[in-house]
Parts: sequence; structure tokens; C-alpha cells
Amino acid sequence: MFSGIKPTGPVQLGNLLGALRTWVEDQHRAESIYCVVDLHALTVPQDPEVLRRTTMELAQLLLAVGIDPSVATLFVQSDVPEHTELSWILECTVSFGELRRMTQFKDKSADAEFVSGGLFTYPALMAADILLYDTNEVPVGEDQRQHLELTRDLATRFNSRYGETFVVPEATVARVAARVMDLQDPTRKMSKSDESPQGTILVLEDLDQVARKIRRAVTDTENEVRFDPAIKPGVSNLLGVLAACTGVAPQELASRYTQYGPLKADTADAVVEYLRPIQARYAELASDPAGTREVLVRGAERARELAALKMALVRERLGLPAR
Ligand code: AMP
Ligand code: TRP
Repeated sequence: MFSGIKPTGPVQLGNLLGALRTWVEDQHRAESIYCVVDLHALTVPQDPEVLRRTTMELAQLLLAVGIDPSVATLFVQSDVPEHTELSWILECTVSFGELRRMTQFKDKSADAEFVSGGLFTYPALMAADILLYDTNEVPVGEDQRQHLELTRDLATRFNSRYGETFVVPEATVARVAARVMDLQDPTRKMSKSDESPQGTILVLEDLDQVARKIRRAVTDTENEVRFDPAIKPGVSNLLGVLAACTGVAPQELASRYTQYGPLKADTADAVVEYLRPIQARYAELASDPAGTREVLVRGAERARELAALKMALVRERLGLPAR
């Protein structure tokens, strides 16, 4: 199992329910490697001090959420230089047309003043992250499915050109809350950019404010509680979030409510209780940065062992000299 998350701003409820929740569950099922992808953050300019701080805070948050360094490997991408090395090779494996079709690139470049080459080749680095570790499964939110498809295509293409080298991975997308929507505009996904502070719930946000935002979530003008994301995105989003926090299916939850008020109140309570222990653990971890640094050093050592083995094989396949 391998997955990654960018240290670009605060972690929001969509990251937690769509991805991190599965990471924690999965770590007991298979060997798991989780990565803070700081190099991916550099596709847009970052303030160095801020990047240093958010990388550390994100690692602490992953531990607070329940990533257990005694069973899973947690590391920072730039600590393992094999990621950039393989990335170049995969840039030479992917086509211009494939990269141009990526919807995340289209969205992010559409109204950007400056579009870096890295924003365009981002999926090659992501594929490198995954393919270095003989990954079978990649737990991600729905928005990453297209990048995973491309990763599979690149693995297959490389294998057929140069001989069996990479495991072809599968995406594992959460069954519920794979796409948590913005509370104020439920037709777009919740994201950590600060365009919609009222529509976004941050994992470390004040819990009273969390409850208030959920109680003020936009729904619709009907008054029927039904799970139907296409026609009732606001109500379905609340049901999905409540389902992720309680483990009850959204359709089943829908049958328990006749009005929006109680659904919002219960969702607010469930999210608050879901976040409370995470915030408490985060506060503890934040007081011991040396402990987290130690976890990351050990994680990078472990990751590098695996990555170096894979790179040795790739170099041999390509006719590059052995090191
Ligand atoms: P990022 O913050 O873009 O690095 O995303 C980290 C992980 O969170 C990825 O697996 C995303 O698919 C997932 N994710 C981000 N936003 C959402 C959302 N609104 N709903 C569900 N999953 C999400
Ligand atoms: N591209 C992913 C995102 O935006 C983050 C990511 C980078 C990732 N490398 C990865 C996810 C490898 C899974 C596996 O969310």
C-alpha cells in the first residue's frame, strides 16, 4: 500500500474522510508506506519557512490521525532522491498528450498566471512515488483516479518495452465520502484553498466553529432526506460525511431522517466527536517535534532501502550504468 498527501496548507475534512481514514484502516491489512509529498508542493511557488513548517505539521497530523510508525512507514518525499530520479524516466515514458489530458492539470492551469513545467509533469512524479515500492493498492480520493489510471498505463508500457519491472497498482477509493463536497457549494469538492472558508472544515479547526459550519450547510428547497448526489448534492454530502463518521451506510441514514435540521445537528455532532480525539493527540505530538523527526528519519531509511533496489533494476533495464 502506498499513498501521498501534499503539505500545502491545512488538512481538511475531505482529506481525512476520503483518504487518511483508509490509510489508518489499511495499515493493519498490508505493508503500508505513506508519504508527505513536499516536491509535489513545489509545482507552485512556496515560502520556504512555511513549507518547512507545514511538512512537519502534516507529519504530526498523520500520526495524530492514527498512522502507527511501528507498523507503517511514514516519510518525506524529498528525503528519498530515487523519487526524482525515477520521475525523469517516467517523464520519458509518458506522452505529452497523456499529460495534457489530465483534468487536475487543466483545472489548475486554467486561471494560473504562471504554469510551471512541474505542474504539467506532476503525474510522472506521482507515478514514480507509487512504482518505486511494488505497490498493489493506492488509497486515494476520487479526484486522483485519473492519475492512478495513468500510473497503471506507464507501468504497463515500461514493462512491455523493457521487461517486467513494475507492479501495476490499483486505486482503492473509499466506499463512502470518496468526494467530500464544499458545504456552501456542494457541486464542488471541499479543498484546502481558502476560497471558501465557510464551506471547508479543517481538521484542526475550533470545534464550535465546525458545528456551526455544518449546521449552516447549503441544502436545497425540498424537504425530503434522500441520498442522491446528482440531484441533492448538499443533503447527500451531509449523509456521506455522517456515514463516514458512523460507519452506517448513507442510504440507511437517509431513511432515519425526515427533516434537514436533525440531519445537520447529528452530522455536526458526529464530526465534532470524530475530530476531538485527533485534535487532542495532535496537541500532544506538537509538543514533541523531536519525536516526529525521529519517525521521519527512520521512515526515510526504510523507504530508501526499497527505492534503491527498484532503481537498480530500472537502471539495468534501461542500460544505465550500475552504481
Ligand atoms: P491533497 O491534499 O490534494 O494532497 O490530497 C490528499 C488526499 O486527499 C488525496 O487522496 C485526495 O484524493 C484526497 N482528497 C482531497 N480532497 C478531497 C475531498 N474533498 N473529498 C475526498 N477526498 C479528498
Ligand atoms: N497527487 C496526489 C493528490 O493531489 C498526492 C500524491 C502524490 C499521491 N503522490 C502520490 C497520492 C502517490 C497517492 C500516491 O492528492
